[in-house]
Amino acid sequence: MSTYNVLQFLLALYCCFRIIICQQFHENFIRPDFCTDKVLTSLESYLTFEAGSAIQCAAICSLDENCLSVSFKLKEGKCFLNFGLLADDCGNGVTLADSVYYKKGNAVKTCMNNGTLINNDCVCYGGYVGTYCERLMTDCSEGYREMYRTNGLYEILPIGATQSFTVTCILRYGPGRTVILRHFQPRHKMNRTWAEYQDGFDLGITGRWIGLEKLYWLSRSKTLDFNIALEKTKSPFVSVKIVYENFEIGNSSTNYQLLSAQLNRARSEINVTDCLSSLIGSSFSSYDMDNNPVQGLGCPAQYGGGWWYNGACAQCNPTGNLHQSGGARTGVDDEVFWEPFDWTPLGINIWL
Ligand SMILES: *[C@@H]1O[C@H](CO)[C@@H](O)[C@H](O)[C@H]1NC(C)=O
Ligand SMILES: *[C@@H]1O[C@H](CO)[C@@H](O)[C@H](O)[C@H]1NC(C)=O
Ligand SMILES: *[C@@H]1O[C@H](CO)[C@@H](O)[C@H](O)[C@H]1NC(C)=O
Ligand SMILES: *[C@@H]1O[C@H](CO)[C@@H](O)[C@H](O)[C@H]1NC(C)=O
Repeated sequence: MSTYNVLQFLLALYCCFRIIICQQFHENFIRPDFCTDKVLTSLESYLTFEAGSAIQCAAICSLDENCLSVSFKLKEGKCFLNFGLLADDCGNGVTLADSVYYKKGNAVKTCMNNGTLINNDCVCYGGYVGTYCERLMTDCSEGYREMYRTNGLYEILPIGATQSFTVTCILRYGPGRTVILRHFQPRHKMNRTWAEYQDGFDLGITGRWIGLEKLYWLSRSKTLDFNIALEKTKSPFVSVKIVYENFEIGNSSTNYQLLSAQLNRARSEINVTDCLSSLIGSSFSSYDMDNNPVQGLGCPAQYGGGWWYNGACAQCNPTGNLHQSGGARTGVDDEVFWEPFDWTPLGINIWL
């Protein structure tokens, strides 16, 4: 593709799908009448091509911050993108009959979706990002990169998702976490129904599950790590992290089958059993929807939670019950555990 084709393609994208932005760009162009029939020298014109109108010419200029002004030769439909500006009195211009000149005015940017213009930058809210707050973040880490720093509920639209939805984001520190599971309160039980695991549940800040449908849309890009932190001691707070890469699950037609998860031992803080790799291929289960290919074991009821189980359940139990004091304790099926540890976590946190 030539540069011009690329610009035209971008213009088509912007003008067909982002009409409002295009209008904002157009409004920024000013036409000083007394500069009619004047153009910059060819040295300052970096791109010349045919365009349908002066507005189209200006819209293409608006896509490139190095373009400061345009000249448009009306009869020939010729567009000149300029690195420079004509002087205020147009004195440095070269005469070119039948042409008009537009320069980029002082930005009069309009922020969308309730964004606020501060120092000519749109400060966005509620999960919106972009120069004009024109779109939703794809996950919480994008929100962190876009300078969101407050933990809370945000609207996101993962790549490929057909609908946006709300998730809990931890943004006070980088790189920004999309919360999958939080369980820090022993009186909260994660032994819940299929419907609750599918839709998600919220027991306050110490207890929540994102919901399998949302997890499916988030996991499709396989670009987010599946991080598990097991809390070892309360004061001082010590937790150890396990990192899985390329995490992906299937959609509801497969009962959210675990498709991919690769343990990265180098990035993990403890030497754990690779619990997830032996579960690849299994569907998610809850006590009222046991999808274990080996029938009759009743893993969700025995383990007291929802997870991917295969055959003899799993070598970890992230959604089990929490024991009040944690510490050395093994062999209790319905408590949170991760083999081969001989300690029971005081809490568990999973995020993408
Ligand atoms: C913007 O603010 C208005 C008024 O408070 C509200 O009704 C609307 O939902 C907000 N829009 C977004 C995208 O947050
Ligand atoms: C799940 O994905 C498969 C394959 O992409 C598709 O055929 C099916 O319709 C999807 N099911 C749902 C419920 O979206
Ligand atoms: C991790 O644990 C396994 C099994 O207990 C052991 O064979 C391996 O050497 C350990 N790796 C490290 C890096 O400690
Ligand atoms: C989980 O709930 C089911 C249904 O109420 C029950 O049969 C099972 O014993 C419970 N499991 C645990 C570990 O509490």
